[in-house]
Amino acid sequence: TGAQVYANCAGCHGPQGEGNPPAFPPLKGHVEKLLKAEGGRTYLLLVVLYGLQGPIKVEGKEYAGIMPGFAWLSDEEIALVLNHLAGWGAPQGFKPYTPDEVKAARAKALTPEEVLKLRQGLKLP
Ligand code: HEM
Repeated sequence: TGAQVYANCAGCHGPQGEGNPPAFPPLKGHVEKLLKAEGGRTYLLLVVLYGLQGPIKVEGKEYAGIMPGFAWLSDEEIALVLNHLAGWGAPQGFKPYTPDEVKAARAKALTPEEVLKLRQGLKLP
């Protein structure tokens, strides 16, 4: 289940996605904002697949850590964990991630720094 795959995230982001500032940003209450932004759905998938490195601001706090990518998880596991995050809040009409969507994103082969650049292009509140 998505909750089982989320065990890979809980050590940093907290069992309920509450985060652990100043090192690890919250996901609960925040992922919905990412999903609402244009391009945010793809960005969220790419963070989990490839990781993220560089300064970001989440809920008014600065983070400048490194998140490892989880490309070693299967397409299905990544889809499950993304849908688990979306279970904490997603925009109306949200369509669950599919394993095929994850598989297609593997062709991009991004670095964590490139994922940061994508984030900088999002219009976040
Ligand atoms: C950032 C999800 C595992 C450390 C993020 C973000 C997401 C996310 C969506 C970006 C938030 C944003 O752009 O506003 C996940 C998921 C995980 C996972 C779904 C499990 C599959 C981990 C683990 C660690 C970690 C295990 C610690 C080793 C971080 C850090 C950041 C971050 C430090 C901020 C990076 C920066 O400052 O550039 N995570 N994460 N994450 N995550 Fe994770």
